[in-house]
Amino acid sequence: MCGIIGITSSKPVSLAIINSLRKLEYRGYDSAGIATLSNGAINEVKSEGRVDNLEKNSAIKSMMGVVGIGHVRWATHGVPNAINAHPHSSENVSIVHNGIIENSTILKKYLIGKGHIFKSQTDTEVIVHLITEHLKENDLKNSIIKVLKQLQGSFALGIIFKDQPDLIVGARRGSPLAVGYGPNENYLGSDSYALKSMTNKISYLNDGEFCILKKDQVKFFDEDGLKVNKKVLELSTDEQNYEKGDFKHFMAKEIEEQPTTLKNCIKEYVDTINNDINIYNFPWDLKEISSVTLIGCGTAYHSCLMAKYWFEELTKLDVTIDIASEFRYRNNRFKKNNLYIFVSQSGETADTYAALDLCNKNGMKTCSVVNVIESSIARDSNFVLPIHCGPEIGVASTKAFLGQMLVLYILVLKLGILRKDLDKDLYLSKIKDLKILPRLVEETLLTERKIQAISSTFTDAKGSMFLGRGYSYPIALEGALKLKELAYVHAEGYPAGEMKHGPLALIEDGMPVVVLAPRDNYYPKTISNMQEVIARGAKVLLITNKSKDEVVSENIWETIEVENTNDDLLPFLLTIPLQKLAYYSALKKGYDIDKPRNLAKSVTVE
Ligand code: AGP
Repeated sequence: MCGIIGITSSKPVSLAIINSLRKLEYRGYDSAGIATLSNGAINEVKSEGRVDNLEKNSAIKSMMGVVGIGHVRWATHGVPNAINAHPHSSENVSIVHNGIIENSTILKKYLIGKGHIFKSQTDTEVIVHLITEHLKENDLKNSIIKVLKQLQGSFALGIIFKDQPDLIVGARRGSPLAVGYGPNENYLGSDSYALKSMTNKISYLNDGEFCILKKDQVKFFDEDGLKVNKKVLELSTDEQNYEKGDFKHFMAKEIEEQPTTLKNCIKEYVDTINNDINIYNFPWDLKEISSVTLIGCGTAYHSCLMAKYWFEELTKLDVTIDIASEFRYRNNRFKKNNLYIFVSQSGETADTYAALDLCNKNGMKTCSVVNVIESSIARDSNFVLPIHCGPEIGVASTKAFLGQMLVLYILVLKLGILRKDLDKDLYLSKIKDLKILPRLVEETLLTERKIQAISSTFTDAKGSMFLGRGYSYPIALEGALKLKELAYVHAEGYPAGEMKHGPLALIEDGMPVVVLAPRDNYYPKTISNMQEVIARGAKVLLITNKSKDEVVSENIWETIEVENTNDDLLPFLLTIPLQKLAYYSALKKGYDIDKPRNLAKSVTVE
């Protein structure tokens, strides 16, 4: 997954491209590059690492081109270095690409046979040589049409041509691509976020389409070169705060913001006067829905798993969950009366989008729970439930996880009461508890000091386990994921009852193990599972909720108590110390917390 940008203007574009690349770094940050056209030549500058490194390159300042393309990279083919960074250029053509060309090896062999010399290890470079080859006998438009038909895989492309100094070609299949319209300049970008600082007028390319951008005109075509008319959408201009403020990291800010983001979201969905939930314009008659399937990746999948427990507990709907990258290739049984719910913070995750696309193509009911409402997944699902938690910049998802869980829980309560699966009094008491959740999260954030103090044990650990039962199992998975992606500690989340079926063999003296044991129905069983790991030498961090009753157990290394609430909402509170634990473990190691190695915020390739 990468980020691409293109600008055609009447004034030099290099600095505007650099600024947009900085905004796109959540899509990849292992190398960056820019190419502009001036004096009849392609000027290309690339560097390993962050956009800051690229900007330091003195050549940037002398780039006077009024047409240019830029790229931030998350390596798929070829190591992260300046040679494999994009743009990739021949003497006549320069290209930036987000996606994967699956038949690049075959095309490369054919092009080497034609005398083309490759400089990089990337799949992308074949496109440069293929276009150069076709331009020998075809005009630009026909060369593009022929090349796109030869490519297999996914792509969002930005292409400039030495002999066409006033235009950029954009093309899309699978990876998102948008065009932005400005005063006497036009833009090409991976998503609205990249273009938002330059314009609020935007059009999205659909799969198979390409466009030719000039500073005063944009033309769209389908894969056969027939003209396509495009709607111009107006982006919400509310300038969302993307700054860190006084926080050292976006992640630290996003953790502390959770009481506010939960409050904002509750305000959108809960009528706190009449104690009712408002989900407006639900497009389906509830009687048409007898089951739900929740689909997502990573942290979003964990909120799907959490919702499964709530759906089973509070409705009579059949519920299944799936990891998007598995769902999209399985021989699924599509059922008309099933509601498919797609959960995604960015709304651009390729696997989740492909699963949605599959369901749309099979005429299924599709609903998405997203944070970015202008995203592809939001645009292409029948119904959208925004999580209203504002921009999430830190790669490790925190407030979006709580936001996803909150909206899914609200959907469960609403479906439960509308279907009369949920008793009215119980429904009202759950809404009452929900209204005070933001305050309880605020109080639970105060466990910070203790977590900070004990995090070094995890920092130096070879491995760690996170255990939970029932509602706590998805949170154990999430806690382990956070420690993995931030502190690079090999941690596993596991159903506590499963340990004796194998993973118990991993437990050795001093191994830090987090046990989530809130005082819910699963409490006694979880405590005995905790005993099993303590008996093998584990250093147990017990996370439970406040109670006057002592925890009946010896040899617990440390205990963190979160605030009290009903069993449904305890998972929100149990998550907080786990976010902090991963944050402080990574901080102790001096790792880049907002941009962990090998990752990116939005995974737009398979
Ligand atoms: C979470 O911290 C990770 N960044 C990752 O697992 C993420 O949840 C996953 O890639 C899904 O992203 P999405 O919610 O934007 O679809």
